[in-house]
Amino acid sequence: MKKFLALTLAVGMSLSLVACSGGGTTEPSTAPSDSGAAVSDSGSSESTGGAQKIGISMPTQSLERWNRDGSYLDEQFKAAGYETIVTYSDNDTNRQVNDIQNMIAEDVDLLVVAAIDGEALNTVMNEAGDAGIPIIAYDRLIMNDNVSYYVSFDNYTVGTLQGQYIADTLDLENAAGPFNIELTAGDPADNNAPYFFNGAMDVLQKYIDSGKLVVVSGQTDFDTVATAAWDSQTAMERAQNVLASYYADGTQVDAWLCSNDSTALGVTQAIQSDYAGSNTVLITGQDGDEANLKNIVDGVQSMTVYKAVANEAVVTLDLAKAILNGDTIDESLISASGWDFDCTYDTETYNTSEGRNCPSFLLVPDVVTADNMVEKLVDTGYYTQDADGYLHPAA
Ligand code: GAL
Repeated sequence: MKKFLALTLAVGMSLSLVACSGGGTTEPSTAPSDSGAAVSDSGSSESTGGAQKIGISMPTQSLERWNRDGSYLDEQFKAAGYETIVTYSDNDTNRQVNDIQNMIAEDVDLLVVAAIDGEALNTVMNEAGDAGIPIIAYDRLIMNDNVSYYVSFDNYTVGTLQGQYIADTLDLENAAGPFNIELTAGDPADNNAPYFFNGAMDVLQKYIDSGKLVVVSGQTDFDTVATAAWDSQTAMERAQNVLASYYADGTQVDAWLCSNDSTALGVTQAIQSDYAGSNTVLITGQDGDEANLKNIVDGVQSMTVYKAVANEAVVTLDLAKAILNGDTIDESLISASGWDFDCTYDTETYNTSEGRNCPSFLLVPDVVTADNMVEKLVDTGYYTQDADGYLHPAA
């Protein structure tokens, strides 16, 4: 609720800014529109009214977090008086292209897109650019120069938090070791996935080089350990193969780096069904998915990296307003918006093509464990906690 209040206060603030790439109209947003609702992968929602119109393209509803992203974005933009079209494209890039083309045909004033495949939207991104529609790449960068700005969390830091958690928990600096570890990365089509993986490996590599950490399977390159569509079943089957091939002789696995919660869920299932060892395997994750938070309470998963997507939606809204107002956009948006959370303005890390930087607003991820989940997730209002101690999303 605090963030919604901050948003209301922020919306009233005037910003002296000039657009850095997406064009867009300069009329202020008009009367609030009626309600619409985020819907299943099979369709889309559309509200009616005279307000400026925002197209919100989410990749899927089969990965838990995107349901929250779509809902928060829909709520924030509607609360600020915009019409919205929200779609979920069932992790099917052809469908996402079609969904976005429909939004262009509906004359949206701005697009917010979380790409299924950051390399596969050129045609429709070019169509949006030709139509003068500014584009915010949401959470996952899109490799197209028509993208105006990028809003995400610091993806590399997500990975370093996971890697550092493993290093600290195993006390790799001081313990004798060696410890055995396996690696599960995300979707190779997702521009975020290498950042997560490299962030973790940049922490862990020195321990692997020194022999303190041993990847028994020898599978350490991203493409080998990647998981198409972030799919839990795919992650589970690969983990089962690794356990059968390298751990059936009683070898202990001490840790398993998983880049997010959906892959951690699959790895956890494989360990429960196919690992003969008696030790608790240290498993990392990301997103605070409900099933994974339960596993953390139960001691089956060790941590998750939480990203408050409610705040990511607030940044996206304030950035969209500045773009539509034709304002100059730089790091002053952060101080002018009055957000009650940290965000950095980055003009070096993310490029949409060779040599073209995409100015980015990056929020700060957080480590959540059984010890701090009430403070980080319940006290903040993101989740509720039941009598058994399990957490459930509040929104
Ligand atoms: C990433 C996203 C992560 C992760 C994954 C699956 O792009 O930043 O939160 O969960 O997709 O949705």
